[in-house]
Amino acid sequence: MSLHDHGAAVAEPVVAPSKRSARSALPATAIRIVLAGARGRVASALRAQLARELPSLRERIGLGLHLGGAFDRRGSVFEDAGIEPLALDQRLLHAAPPTIDQLLARLHAASTPTLLVDATGSSEWAAEYPHLLRAGIGIVTANKRAHSGSYRDWLALQQAARAGNVPLRYETTVGAALPVIGTLQCLRRRGERVLALEGVLSGSLSFVLERVQQGTRLSEALAEAIALGYTEPDPLEDLAFVDLHRKLVILAREAGQRLEPEQVRIDSLLPPGGSLAGLLAGHCDARWAERADIARRDDRRLVAVASWQLAGQARIEVRAEPAASPLARLAGGENLVRIRSEYHDALPITITGPGAGPAATAAGLLGDIIAACREWRPRD
Ligand SMILES: NC(=O)c1ccc[n+]([C@@H]2O[C@H](COP(=O)([O-])OP(=O)(O)OC[C@H]3O[C@@H](n4cnc5c(N)ncnc54)[C@H](OP(=O)(O)O)[C@@H]3O)[C@@H](O)[C@H]2O)c1
Repeated sequence: MSLHDHGAAVAEPVVAPSKRSARSALPATAIRIVLAGARGRVASALRAQLARELPSLRERIGLGLHLGGAFDRRGSVFEDAGIEPLALDQRLLHAAPPTIDQLLARLHAASTPTLLVDATGSSEWAAEYPHLLRAGIGIVTANKRAHSGSYRDWLALQQAARAGNVPLRYETTVGAALPVIGTLQCLRRRGERVLALEGVLSGSLSFVLERVQQGTRLSEALAEAIALGYTEPDPLEDLAFVDLHRKLVILAREAGQRLEPEQVRIDSLLPPGGSLAGLLAGHCDARWAERADIARRDDRRLVAVASWQLAGQARIEVRAEPAASPLARLAGGENLVRIRSEYHDALPITITGPGAGPAATAAGLLGDIIAACREWRPRD
């Protein structure tokens, strides 16, 4: 696997002392971060990482980053001089719920370049991206919604970022901090055709299917996943493959296809007309117990796989994979993506590791923030 610019931005080479002092003498580019979803799981983990890393970023890479604003649906705080990331909970305690117009006015008002870091799952904020980008506000996002709608909207986003001459980064929308999107972008930048990709991209589905494979009823496995907080706030997003669908649409577009969401063929855990209540009441238990039995007898495992091929279709399905296949051997919470390209055909590029979790996702966001800010940095 080749390290693309996202990864390289995190792994800054050590510089010799003389060069280091020359670097720190460079004027730091002042960039204001505004954090959306400030008290959510991912944003809270990001605040902890910002508190640790912000002071040294100026020294290491000449970035004068500061947290200049943060908000969620319950409150907002903006301060030109910068906010201590870990003091934010306290600062937001008595804040009033902001309106989107108030927040947009604060975003547009600053004289310093502004990077919106979106750690919400909000469609409302995703819809604002094109205007923000055109107005010169950079965006780093973990929110899949803006990039997984119609192809026309996806294109409009890319055009808006170019028109505003600002960064737009979304590596964490697929596989948390794993460099999946960056790798696809790197392949395409150097003109290497992407031929196919497939991946296990949902920790919650892997957990449920593994439990079913062990003999647990589907309804029980689901209830367990929900109780452990492994599913999205609305578990139907996982079970009807809504989340996986968004991820596959994003990946196929990075691979070069003008894919529309409705072109993806989906065979989900939820039967047509089925409901979460029905699944939890055991309506599908017998069917899935039988599928797991058949797979086990063949020494196979049930795995939810999202796949795309240049010449074929985009598809999401539960497959019975040979037990020895890398897709079937993943531990809970692990993701794996295989990319076949012009020069990596017989032996595909494989990217694997934790594909979710607030700390990993926050680390991916921080990598994107640093890479985005370096795009704004004056050349030395
Ligand atoms: N958790 C993961 O492992 C993971 C991995 C990869 C990507 N992601 C993505 O990262 C994003 C955040 O995930 P999370 O797990 O941190 O979710 P979360 O814990 O539910 O936090 C979401 C935050 O967004 C805020 N929010 C929602 N709608 C908003 C709006 N319209 N305006 C302002 N704030 C809004 C919420 O504020 P209130 O509390 O005030 O409602 C909350 O602070 C999601 O898009 C998710 O898909 C998550």
